Amino acid sequence: MSNPGMMTGRPLSRRAVLAAAGGGLLAGGARETGAPGLRDIAAARGLVFGSELRREVLQQAPEMAALFVHDCGAMVPGHEAKWDYVEPKQGEFHFTDLDFLVNFAELHHLQIRLHTLLWSEALPDWVKQALEAGQGAPILARHIAKLVGRYRGRAQCWDVANEIADPRWHGGPEGLTMTPWRRALGPGYVAEAFHLAHDADPDAILFINDDDLEHDTATGAAKRATYLRLVTAWKRQGVPINGFGLQGHLKPELPFNPPAWRAFLRELAALGLELHVTELDVVDRHLPADPALRDRLAAELVRQFLDVTLDEKAVSMVMCWGLSDRFSWHDEDPDFRRADGRPARPLPYDASFHPKPMYQAVAAALAAAPVRN
Ligand code: XIL
Repeated sequence: MSNPGMMTGRPLSRRAVLAAAGGGLLAGGARETGAPGLRDIAAARGLVFGSELRREVLQQAPEMAALFVHDCGAMVPGHEAKWDYVEPKQGEFHFTDLDFLVNFAELHHLQIRLHTLLWSEALPDWVKQALEAGQGAPILARHIAKLVGRYRGRAQCWDVANEIADPRWHGGPEGLTMTPWRRALGPGYVAEAFHLAHDADPDAILFINDDDLEHDTATGAAKRATYLRLVTAWKRQGVPINGFGLQGHLKPELPFNPPAWRAFLRELAALGLELHVTELDVVDRHLPADPALRDRLAAELVRQFLDVTLDEKAVSMVMCWGLSDRFSWHDEDPDFRRADGRPARPLPYDASFHPKPMYQAVAAALAAAPVRN
């Protein structure tokens, strides 16, 4: 993974956080006219809408703070809680930026999702070396106790395990991908991680999170079946898994089959899981170049996906992976970047913070969702 661009410097005071939040010009129509944001539209249905946020985004565009709290009832840090960010060298901890974002969220009464404890990416070299040297178990235990313990009672949700079962990659016979964790610790590492997280904060809602589940492809079908099988077994063994995160990086060139998707969500819900859409955006690299047409097609896909998804009442939260195209990760990623070199347009606001058709699609889907308790 690329260098996350860690911010150093002293922690900002609560006053500085407040100033950052109030300091921006209000761009875009809704916030000027006092129209409800996505946060309020979601709340009226008993839902939560939120987004990924990074400290550098607030520093580069202070106006993002006002936009964020207008539309979001929840926040997830984009990289500040990942391993290579919080402990790049063994025993050298960097919590300044994560603390900043958690303070920001609390100040604005946002729910906090933290992401992610166990992933094959964002792993510092020292962890990989320790895994190869047979030191994985104590290191995992220390990491989870440290992070989950630090934000105990403050973070409502943790993505404990991210992207752990992908049939395209060489996997163990149980269906888990051969990540460095699986290789070093065997198939029991997932259950162990959930138990450790539960010990560190018994009230936190603990999630598995993954992508490419929604598409009606061989991969999508295999992934859905694998997860249903794995989670069923873990639940039976009393593993404290409470939720499933559906990343939702939607790919318009792949087929979407509403009944198959709806059935998967129903089965997850029947296992007693809370469901969150955690990283919604549209991978628009294969959509036409014309921005207006591209935006319209992306919005239609989002509306279709959310209509089916929100029909399942176990889905309680929808998060986009960022609010504005200016700060999307797609242009940094060679797998997602457009061949024509035009900037990606994956998110509800354009690069100048004006709402796009995707914004209206999210708003309309939230407004049409069945009411939750
Ligand atoms: C991405 C970040 O957005 C990028 O800035 C970073 O370079 C790589 O990770 N699925 C996930 C997220 O679970 O953690 C990823 O975030 C996007 C895909």
